[in-house]
Amino acid sequence: MANPRPSSHRLLRSRLLPPPSISCYVLVLLAFSAFIFLFSQRQITVVDRNPSDESFEDLKERLWGSASGYGYRPCVKRTQKYAAPQKWNRYLTVRSNGGLNQMRTGICDMVAVARLMNATLVIPQLDKRSFWQDTSTFSDIFDESHFINSQEGDVHIVRELPKELESAPRARKHFTSWSGASYYEEMSQLWKDYQVIHVPKSDSRLANNDLPIDIQRLRCRAMYHSLRFSNPIERLGKKLVERLKSHGQYIALHLRFEKDMLSFTGCTYGLNDMEAEELRIMREITNHWKLKDINSTEQRLGGFCPLTPKEVGIFLKALGYPSSTWIYVAAGEIYGGETYLSDLRSRFPNLVFKETLATKEELKDFSSHSSQTAAIDYIISVESDVFVPSYTGNMARAVEGHRRFLGHRKTINPDRKGLVELFDMIDRGELKEGAKLSSLVSEMHEHRQGAPRKRYGSLPGSKGRDRLRTEESFYENPFPECICLAGKH
Ligand SMILES: *[C@@H]1O[C@H](CO)[C@@H](O)[C@H](O)[C@H]1NC(C)=O
Ligand SMILES: *[C@@H]1O[C@H](CO)[C@@H](O)[C@H](O)[C@H]1NC(C)=O
Repeated sequence: MANPRPSSHRLLRSRLLPPPSISCYVLVLLAFSAFIFLFSQRQITVVDRNPSDESFEDLKERLWGSASGYGYRPCVKRTQKYAAPQKWNRYLTVRSNGGLNQMRTGICDMVAVARLMNATLVIPQLDKRSFWQDTSTFSDIFDESHFINSQEGDVHIVRELPKELESAPRARKHFTSWSGASYYEEMSQLWKDYQVIHVPKSDSRLANNDLPIDIQRLRCRAMYHSLRFSNPIERLGKKLVERLKSHGQYIALHLRFEKDMLSFTGCTYGLNDMEAEELRIMREITNHWKLKDINSTEQRLGGFCPLTPKEVGIFLKALGYPSSTWIYVAAGEIYGGETYLSDLRSRFPNLVFKETLATKEELKDFSSHSSQTAAIDYIISVESDVFVPSYTGNMARAVEGHRRFLGHRKTINPDRKGLVELFDMIDRGELKEGAKLSSLVSEMHEHRQGAPRKRYGSLPGSKGRDRLRTEESFYENPFPECICLAGKH
């Protein structure tokens, strides 16, 4: 059940490491030749895993079955010592920063922080200035009344600060990232001098681990029960899910082959020189992207590049998905459009986007609000039979965690580092798309399908704040606090 932590985990990490020394290269070379050697030896075992030997039922189970059979259930009940909330006459005001999913996790953490600090929470303001440039308010995106009402047993939430406090002096507090319960108890000293604390940033303020069980479960209740999307978003999301399901089972593919993502990660594999240059310039002039000089080849070999549409096509085909499979692409605008999508579409012609699945009329109220279209993608991804993120990120993590919570719905996390080695062999003509590739890819991903496991701890060797930062996100896998064996909570 407990798998080794995937090595190609986060992009940021690669940026913190010093440039690899010569001995590293030698090691990589050695490892690679060992891989080639093993690869040639493995042909024998490969034969008995040939997908064509698999019965139809087994194949169906392997492709679409989820791990819910393990008997795990959501468990978010309060413990007996959990006290009812009071209507504290002191207030936490929050500005949530980031894109949709960063804001969602931040908001749920602030619910927990309000509880830890015995405060009343004012409905958070949403980020309007970020890269996403979205003017949506809280109630455009979320069901505000439901949020307030469903938190009644946990935290008192109000729409606005009481009139008499609007001009009261406020403490403006950038809470330290990944803080624990004792930090917020200490911060409660601020109430001696202030009745209002303003939090200008809500992302990653709360630790992933070592918090009281009631606080962790409160985060889950907030995330999975209280913070529902607004009715228009939920309605359209459900409608589109039904439309997809009318064709049978479907895959939701979070395809992060978007201009900003490629520019930020410095990944230009498969692109032409002009495009590579365009992305380089975009990176050069974007001030808040600190890393400018990126070697695309190294980035890709390290597993730090989003899979290209073509690579996703080869990958899904190799896993055994028939070309008739419906694939919903959850994404912004795909870089290069049809030029690159065609390599995926040729393998899976039933490729749909919200723009092709919904009518213009249905989309018109949402399409100019990136957070609202992201919410629609989120719903369709959580409800899909299989979720495949081509890259990590806040959305991929949030969707994966939600699917785990709902019964370990299948999420296939591509082993990008391992796959790139195989793709490069195909490029060099040493391997072909077919049964052999299929067994290798299937085997590589046997334990990357969202089965129950405990949240990963920090990276070995990391210290201090870095240790907290490298822990797996609580919302990526709320196990064990909010997922239990049936009858055991
Ligand atoms: C919050 O209130 C509870 C119950 O009244 C109390 O036990 C606890 O110490 C308070 N915590 C803080 C941080 O003020
Ligand atoms: C990028 O890295 C690759 C592999 O390490 C190397 O062969 C290549 O020369 C590098 N390219 C540049 C422009 O430095």
